This record gives sequence, C-alpha cells and structure tokens, in this order.
Amino acid sequence: MILATFTSILPELKPYLRSKLKNLQLEISNKPLDLDKVNPDTEILGVFVDSKVDMAVFEKLPKLKLIVTCSTGYDHIDLQVAKKRKVVVCNVPTYGENTVAQHALTLMLALSRKLFESVKRVKEGVYDYHGLVGFDLKGKTIGIVGTGHIGIHVIDMLQGFEARIIAHDPCATKELAKTHNFELVSWSTLLKESDIISLHVPLCDDTHYMINKSTIKKMKQGVYIINTARGGLVDAQALVEGLESGKVAGAGLDVLEQEAYLMHTQKITSKTSATEIETSLMENILIDHPHTIVTPHNAFNSVEALRRIMDTSIENVKMFLEAETKNQIILKNNF
Ligand code: NAI
Repeated sequence: MILATFTSILPELKPYLRSKLKNLQLEISNKPLDLDKVNPDTEILGVFVDSKVDMAVFEKLPKLKLIVTCSTGYDHIDLQVAKKRKVVVCNVPTYGENTVAQHALTLMLALSRKLFESVKRVKEGVYDYHGLVGFDLKGKTIGIVGTGHIGIHVIDMLQGFEARIIAHDPCATKELAKTHNFELVSWSTLLKESDIISLHVPLCDDTHYMINKSTIKKMKQGVYIINTARGGLVDAQALVEGLESGKVAGAGLDVLEQEAYLMHTQKITSKTSATEIETSLMENILIDHPHTIVTPHNAFNSVEALRRIMDTSIENVKMFLEAETKNQIILKNNF
C-alpha cells in the first residue's frame, strides 16, 4: 500500500482525510514535518507552509513521488530539487481568495481605528477614547499590488468604502480595471499616491524586498502597509526605519520572512546566517512596535477555507494516483 504522510493537519480534519483516502496507508500529524520522525517509506507528502521541503527532505524520503502543499504559496518547497528528482508538486491555487482578502481588510480596518490599542485599553480597565483618533477610509487612496485571485477580491470588498482604488500588476488588463472599478497604475504611481498599500503578489526573485528603503522613500508621508502575502516581500529593517521615522504610520502584517523561527519549525543554530538572525531581530521589533498589528500567518484560517483546502488536496492526490496530475506547479523562471 502507498504510504502518504500528511503534516500540519488539524485534529478535527483527520477523520475526514482518512475517510476520503481509504486506499492509502496514512500517517497524519498535526505538527509540521519532523525529519527525525517522518517515515522514510513516504511516497506522498502533504505539507503546509510551516514545513520547509529542501534537499534534506528529499534525501530522507527516497521513495517520494508527490508533494501536495495544502496552500497557495509554494516558496517553502525547493522546486529545482523536486524537478531533478522527478517529484510532482501540487498546490491549492484558489482556496481562499475571499478568506485572505477578508483578513487584509481586517488588518486595514483595525489599523484605521486603532482597534488593538482600544481593546487592550478597555480590557485593562481604562474606558477612555483619548489618544485613539483613527481615520476614515473614505476619500483615501488605497494601492493594491497584484490583482490576482486575492488582490481582486480585496478590490471588490473595498468598493463600499468610497475610497479611490488604484492597483499595479504587469498582467492586469484595462478590461479587468473597468470591470472591478479600479485605476491601473505604474509601480511608481502606486508608491507615490497610496495612503494604504496592500500586497498580494507571490514571493519570487522579482518581488523579494519590493518594499525596501528606496520604495518606502517614494511613498506618501504617513502611509500604511498591509502584507498578507509573504514576509519576504518586505525588508523588515527598512520597515522598522520607516515606522521609527514616521514615514510609515502603521503596518498590518500576517506574514514575516523568518516566521519559521517564531513558529519553532526552524531553530537558530551555528549554521543560521547572520542575515537570517538580523531579519528575525527586526521582525521581533516589528511585532513589539506600537504601530503594527502582526498576526501569525492566519489569513487562510477560516472553517470554510480549511475545508476547501482539504478537498482540493485530496483531489490532487486522487488525480495523481489516476496518473492525471491536477494543480501541478511547473517550474518556470524564478518561481
Ligand atoms: P495570484 O497568482 O492569483 O495573483 C498574484 C498576482 O500578482 C498575479 O496577477 C501576478 O501578475 C501579480 N504579480 C506578480 N509579480 C508582480 C509584481 N512585481 N507587481 C505587481 N503584481 C505582480 O495569487 P493569489 O492567489 O492572489 O495569492 C497571492 C499571494 O498571497 C500568494 O502567492 C501567497 O504567497 C499569498 N497567500 C497568503 C496566505 C496567507 O495565509 N497569508 C494564503 C494564501 C495566499
């Protein structure tokens, strides 16, 4: 019987997974992949973004044929090695457009009304609104970076706020902009004119640190930055400096570049690079900063989205077993 190992599966979803993949031998864990514990006979591996699938994993699992990531993003998987080893990698391309968009909006709204400080204050017994002045979204310019599945949902959800919505995406068309009622602008215009910038692009060489010292310099004074895409899009040091100088008024972050250390799926060892340690330190400063809200890569995490993720992942496995791969990630350029 084929052995399939699934990691990071919520206990309540385990019976469902078992009922749908009866013809496989299943080892299911609610924790990220642990190389010391994983069964080396694994042929099908199910992972989430909290498991890094690198050379060490491929070496440990010589029989591996399929990796199913229960996520949209797949930058945690070394696709070059997978290709070399002829291991098929499949993802869940569209489980949570509305779910992630809702979280981006949650961060935006929470920042706009100082929600975190307000709630904290009241829970500490201080029922006083002084010092909690927020701002309206009405009349503001909101810049959406990436008008794919999630970005376009954010745009649609924002329509009721009477804000000006601008967006940048090299693949977006004028028709898309017309249908969804936004202005398609250049990257430099988006940086210059946005009061709030929300990121919805994948992480790749082109987008790594797209928010950096130089791009922050071009932004409006008092800009807000929302990132529910990937931590590596933002240079944490540049963001800390932007917040300290007041150029950036606030940031809502669901993702951090070195979040694996915070999730304890990666440990700081003598092999950890100085850059990784520096970034981790900066990200801890971001977590503690009074003008940020940081959530623990939680944007995908709704009852409905989890069920959709599970269903597509099961379908990915079933199709692979029938020799008809679905949602396969094909390595091209830097992706
Ligand atoms: P998508 O592939 O549908 O859309 C991405 C868009 O970004 C595409 O339209 C593409 O043309 C555009 N793009 C690429 N490079 C760009 C650049 N330099 N400037 C502007 N636009 C650019 O992806 P989708 O579904 O909208 O997801 C976006 C990202 O959100 C994913 O790659 C993933 O990393 C992240 N994500 C985060 C989750 C969370 O829980 N925080 C959950 C799901 C996705």
